Amino acid sequence: MSATGEVKALTPPDIVARKGGTPLVCLTAYTTPMARLVDTTCDIVLVGDSVGMVLHGLPSTLGVTLDMMIMHAQAVSRGVERALMVVDMPFGSYEEGPEQAFRNAARLMAETGCAAVKLEGGESMAGTIQFLVTRGIPVMAHVGLTPQAVNTFGGYKVQGRGNDAERILRDADAVSKAGAFAVVLEKVPEALARTITADVAIPTIGIGASSACDGQILVVDDMLGMFTDFRPKFVKRYAELGEQAQAAIAAYTREVRERRFPGAEHVFGDGPKTIKGGEAA
Ligand code: KIV
Repeated sequence: MSATGEVKALTPPDIVARKGGTPLVCLTAYTTPMARLVDTTCDIVLVGDSVGMVLHGLPSTLGVTLDMMIMHAQAVSRGVERALMVVDMPFGSYEEGPEQAFRNAARLMAETGCAAVKLEGGESMAGTIQFLVTRGIPVMAHVGLTPQAVNTFGGYKVQGRGNDAERILRDADAVSKAGAFAVVLEKVPEALARTITADVAIPTIGIGASSACDGQILVVDDMLGMFTDFRPKFVKRYAELGEQAQAAIAAYTREVRERRFPGAEHVFGDGPKTIKGGEAA
């Protein structure tokens, strides 16, 4: 709680202080109701650019725009009180250089109230990360499989196997030294995740990177079984809400066709109005 009695949200320094401690719990959210649910237990709520694939049916994250991120982040901000809200910078909004990144990150912060942004890339983004951090924009980095580079990688492949491990290690080291407050490690071998976690000063947040990391993140629709287009090996389904929703929609369809819905309890008579449970009946 703050001095005003309001719940105080976690800050980037709070996240850094958790390095090597109790694992950080992170999930994505794209809407107010989901943000409210995630905020009850998670440390970081990420408005991920995965929103493009999960909610908009795009084939990759490449078509996500800054305006889409702003709209979803505004919705999420209405549901977050205690977690740190981080917003993804979409493809094309930061890669030209530090000034472009600052302009767009500042817009994300000013228009959504987020306290930090996330961007993809390691060594090649270190200068940009330093530029943002030294101007008041906390950055969460993302190395390993960076989905915005799916075409360069030729698919959503494990990164950092064999001799390639050195590259990912250099990336993680570079973003840590540039001032990022945390780094997402996506789809890298367990041994590499362990080495990076021991090596860098900031928390590592794994997705497909083993429990050796300082924390974990998943796409919330994946772990709830609501996004079923494909199922990466690293996703554990904690619920099958997609199946439940499908069954509910089928039941509704049946009942409408058989005139069993609406039932007597859902219809209005034409007698004098009474108030039942706060609603005109
Ligand atoms: O866009 C996203 O949701 C992400 C996380 C899954 C790390 O980048």
